[in-house]
Formats: sequence, C-alpha cells, structure tokens
Amino acid sequence: MRLAHVTDLHFGAEEPAVVAGLRADLVAQDVDRVLVSGDLTMRARAEQFRAAVDLLDAVGRPWTCVPGNHDLPLDRPARAFEPLGAYRKLVDPDPEPLVRDGGLLLLGLSTARPYLWKGGLVDAAQVARIGSALAGPAELKVLMLHHPVFRSAQRPDEALVHGADQALRAAAEVGVDVILCGHDHVAAQVRLRGMVAVMSGTACSHRVRAGESQSWTVLDLDGDTLRSTVRHWHEGAFRALGETRWRRTSDGWLT
Ligand SMILES: [Fe+2]
Ligand SMILES: [Fe+2]
Repeated sequence: MRLAHVTDLHFGAEEPAVVAGLRADLVAQDVDRVLVSGDLTMRARAEQFRAAVDLLDAVGRPWTCVPGNHDLPLDRPARAFEPLGAYRKLVDPDPEPLVRDGGLLLLGLSTARPYLWKGGLVDAAQVARIGSALAGPAELKVLMLHHPVFRSAQRPDEALVHGADQALRAAAEVGVDVILCGHDHVAAQVRLRGMVAVMSGTACSHRVRAGESQSWTVLDLDGDTLRSTVRHWHEGAFRALGETRWRRTSDGWLT
C-alpha cells in the first residue's frame, strides 16, 4: 500500500512551477491514493477549489480530503451560516469521509471552526466517532485532520488543535496506526502513544515556513513495516530527502 500525504496546497497562493512538479511527482511515485489534510485554498473561492480539484484529479488516483481553516470563507454571512458550503459543493459533500479500501481504513475529521480563525477543534462527538468508525480490523488505520496534534521541532511554539489529547487517547485505544495533519507548513514526524504522527509542509504554495521548501510525504506499508519518505521541492523538482522506517510491534510503532 502506497499513500501520498499532501497538505496546505493553498491555491490562490500557489507557485505554478511547484504545482506542475507536484502533479508530475505524484504520478511518478505511483501512489495508490492521495490523502489531503486541508487548506486547499487561500480564501475558499470557487476558482481556488476548482484548481485544487483539477490537480488532484489529474493524478489519476483516488483522493480523500478534509477541509482546513483557509477553506472557510472570510465573508461573514457564509462564514457564520454555511462555513463549508463551497467545500461541500466543489470538493466533497462529506467533509469527514470514512474510507475503507482494501486494507486501508481512514477517517477524516473537519477541525476548522468559523469562530476559531487559526486554531481548530476536535469536539466530543468527533472523539466518539474516532472510537466507533475506526473500530474493527484493518491493515492500516489512518486518522486525518488539518490542525496539528503535535509540535514540530521547527515551529515549537505553534498551537495544537483543541481536543488533541482526547483525540489521541481515542485513536490509540482503537489502534490507529498513522495520524496525518498539516497547517504548520513544515515536514515532521513523531511517535505519539505508539502511533506514527506525520505532518507535511505546504505542497505547492509560496507560504513556506522555517526556511523549508514545499514538501509532501510518501507512506509505504509492507506488512509491519512503514517507510515514510519526505519529498522536498529542490532545484525544480520534488526529491526524496529523509526516509524513516517504522516497525509495528506489540508496543506500537517504533523506528
Ligand atoms: Fe495552511
Ligand atoms: Fe491551516
């Protein structure tokens, strides 16, 4: 099973050369599915969502997405009354998809809230859904959300999603293998309660942070081995820069 983690595309602030490079690299890496953890757009405009969907469709593989804080409109009536209206119409009617595909069991959560501009929330109902939706056996259980559940070394002062602790507890209890998040625009991965937590950088926008270039992450599962390879934009193409090999043990995932 070969998955792509892509996040924070930010159409409206995209770098056209990086968009083309990302499309080419996703095709070249021959991934089975593309998992997108939000911030498809800068301002939740229709043309920005369409450009993001065009890119994902062009890869020619199934893709699954959750919204980020930038995918909620800024203008007040829509933000207050129908914050995910454009996302539902143009990307996916379900902002919290549950995917079972072969050995993959994936739940996406929508953590962006209209009253929390940058922060996000995993509420009690979402914590309960982690427990119910991700119960049962699977080769790889993945939880995906936009806001971070851990702090990267590059940006140690960034806020975690509200409810991170409860979400992590529920995920660990139900045997989640991998948690995917974005929002901080840097690439990082850590072990959290025996799970592999992965954050990728902005995939194709100029909103790079902490001196890092754009990035996405390949996740390769082979039995009880998970290889995670960060692919950074460097001199006109995405290139592998750092691979981590995780092993599934009775104590969870270990490097
Ligand atoms: Fe972002
Ligand atoms: Fe964000």
